[in-house]
Amino acid sequence: MIQVMRAGLREMRVEDLDAVMDIERRAYEFSWSRGNFVDSMAAGYIAQVLCDEQSQLQGYFVAMAGVDEMHLLNITVEPRLQGRGLGLQLLDGVLLSATVHGAGLLWLEVRPSNRRALELYERYGLHAVARRRAYYPALVDGRAAREDAIVMSSPVENLRQRRGMD
Ligand SMILES: CC(C)(COP(=O)(O)OP(=O)(O)OC[C@H]1O[C@@H](n2cnc3c(N)ncnc32)[C@H](O)[C@@H]1OP(=O)(O)O)[C@@H](O)C(=O)NCCC(=O)NCCS
Repeated sequence: MIQVMRAGLREMRVEDLDAVMDIERRAYEFSWSRGNFVDSMAAGYIAQVLCDEQSQLQGYFVAMAGVDEMHLLNITVEPRLQGRGLGLQLLDGVLLSATVHGAGLLWLEVRPSNRRALELYERYGLHAVARRRAYYPALVDGRAAREDAIVMSSPVENLRQRRGMD
């Protein structure tokens, strides 16, 4: 049997969820549940996976397209593969989806403690525009606590220009 293998981004499918959840649980202290992904797909959110040449999942993102805007809800790279530019590749996929959906603005939330993500978003051209107090669950010295969220956004067109997509 000839199996067609294609590296790159494609739509997330229910059959991907075992691999997605394996990455999700290792990538976050407070991870999404399987139900969060199922609900996102059922709701018609944009959910894509990034695969290598052997069709192995390397990362994924979930985004919600609204009226004239795109809200990035989840972006994750397999922990063993982080720091190799895959996050950037996923962001380009988000940007492409935002363009296809005619979104004028891309926005997301990030924990102030998540330096790698914050720096990646800043380099990509997103700017902090607001702070949501006590938005995320957190653990401080093993005790349940809350952490703020930094809201970041940018006009899609500015990001496209930065990435040379125009
Ligand atoms: C945030 C996240 C998605 C970024 O993905 P990533 O693949 O690590 O990001 P990139 O590799 O594209 O860029 C990150 C770093 O790799 C470096 N890098 C990029 N391309 C590279 C390459 N080809 N070779 C070596 N390093 C590279 C970047 O300069 C950057 O450097 P830094 O470590 O000093 O920040 C990923 O770290 C992740 O999944 N984290 C856990 C989940 C999470 O926090 N998600 C975001 C929630 S808001």
